[in-house]
Amino acid sequence: MTDVVATKNLVETAVSAAMAQVLPAELAGGDPLVRRSEHADFQSNVALALAKQAKRPPREIAQAVADAIDAHAVSATTSGPGFLNLTVPDATLWERIGERVNADRLGIGTPLTGERMVIDYSAPNIAKEMHVGHLRTTIIGDALARILGFLGADVVRQNHLGDWGTQFGMLIQYIDEHPELPWRHQGGDVSTLDALYRAARAQFDADLGFADRARSRVVALQSGDAATLAVWRELVAESELAFQALYDRLGVLLTPADSAGESTYNLFLADVVEELVAAGIVVESDGALCVFFDDITGPDGDRVPLIVRKSDGGFGYAATDLATIRYRIRDLKATRILYVVDARQAMHFRMVFATARRAGWLTDDVHAVHVPFGTVLAADGRPFKTRSGGTVRLSELLDAAVGRARDVISEKAHGLAPDELEHVVQAAGIGAVKYADLSTSRTKDYTFDVDRMVSFTGNTGVYLQYAHVRTRSILAKLPEGAALAAVDTTLPLHPAERALALALDDFADTLADVADTLEPHRLCGYLFALAKAYTDFFESCPVLRAETAAQRGNRVALCRLTGRTLATGLHLLGIEAPQRL
Ligand code: ARG
Repeated sequence: MTDVVATKNLVETAVSAAMAQVLPAELAGGDPLVRRSEHADFQSNVALALAKQAKRPPREIAQAVADAIDAHAVSATTSGPGFLNLTVPDATLWERIGERVNADRLGIGTPLTGERMVIDYSAPNIAKEMHVGHLRTTIIGDALARILGFLGADVVRQNHLGDWGTQFGMLIQYIDEHPELPWRHQGGDVSTLDALYRAARAQFDADLGFADRARSRVVALQSGDAATLAVWRELVAESELAFQALYDRLGVLLTPADSAGESTYNLFLADVVEELVAAGIVVESDGALCVFFDDITGPDGDRVPLIVRKSDGGFGYAATDLATIRYRIRDLKATRILYVVDARQAMHFRMVFATARRAGWLTDDVHAVHVPFGTVLAADGRPFKTRSGGTVRLSELLDAAVGRARDVISEKAHGLAPDELEHVVQAAGIGAVKYADLSTSRTKDYTFDVDRMVSFTGNTGVYLQYAHVRTRSILAKLPEGAALAAVDTTLPLHPAERALALALDDFADTLADVADTLEPHRLCGYLFALAKAYTDFFESCPVLRAETAAQRGNRVALCRLTGRTLATGLHLLGIEAPQRL
């Protein structure tokens, strides 16, 4: 597989070569600061950036660089206080199209080869229903897993299921006392378990006798009592079935093989604490073992402890995360660990990372990153809740979006067989939810608005799916063999073709940018801009009725490459790109 060099990289090379001719060596080696521009194909403000150090007016530097640029590769002019405007020859852009349209993976390289990235995402809690709060971690985490993997990283997905804790003692005790209540073999529905869980909690709060029995059950669970463990295992299995059903419906890559719930680390907790004690990192505070940090304080200004072992000798969420990070570094050999978890856990992760650093597990060779995200809001601008104030089940949200997609698509799609229509409706509804989530800047809150998200217009998943379908339907209308014509690099580029070609060329750079910033909305924004560039092209450049066969061939290549780029981009977001709509 050969990577196609992006036009932007060619321009950078040309500017760098010119800089080397006209600037002192210590200044010439830096970033040539080439960006896409409205005034030319690209612009560089490197002359402005270097003027001070070079002790020359920026305009003079810009002119010198422009004069030195290889005019066959790039034509350069200067403007304003010292901008370089850079335009590439038509043939260069056509060559890129010709290379990419037939390339495996669109000619995109694998710059992340050699990196082992552990991605912690989804992580719902056993015996509870997945709710709206799990939507973002699941969808964002999965998109990152796909994109980083596509760029060559060795991705290890980790589903840190909430499968351990005192609440299970309570639930198992309740189940034991109510053998008449069915919860087994619900075929991927945990609503009964969820209800049992809430009933157990209510009785725990109201009935001291039950609370006592529940506590003994916690002890039994923790000390490995066989009967108690057996029920716990069934609870886990039943819940995992339900989660898997939802992952499958969402088109998320997670499988049971990616599950490494909290209980996985039980065996290591004592050892982790011992290691921290031996290293003098923990101190005793009110009977608990804690780590303190000078720069992490609560609202009252007091330092907030990371509780590694509770005063009753039990271990909690923090101890588990310490064992987890040690395992991910020492055993999984991660070079990067991403925790795609709600922004409200920011302080927890700061403390876990700082402790891991003090313990010597987390070194400069490993990047541990909390990838936080904002809240999903209801139309009233408040966190999404049911009318009674409860959490909204994720499956209900999906049903709502699919239902709305069915209305919108049935109106538009004619001539689809019922099976295919249903497939498209699911793809559009689920895709709409995922796209609405991914296209909002990750750290911002957003409003879950079903009508807006399934709209055929605007920055929506359906719009992009539709743009992809339009590229397909044009190709379907071509005479036999015409779809594979070679690109003629001698033809002049229409401005709309030029804009589309430049947009297509930006794909690799966009993916690299998402990998750096961990912000999938940049890919959404890119695909949306690409779809718009395609629409402009389509409106001003006839394809089937092109003037010559060569022109038609070139335009067909633009359609094909746009279609492949949209489909690949959607796939990397975890969104299906149906062939028809
Ligand atoms: N189960 C947790 C929750 O629902 C999320 C776990 C995130 N991952 C982690 N390693 N702490 O809040």
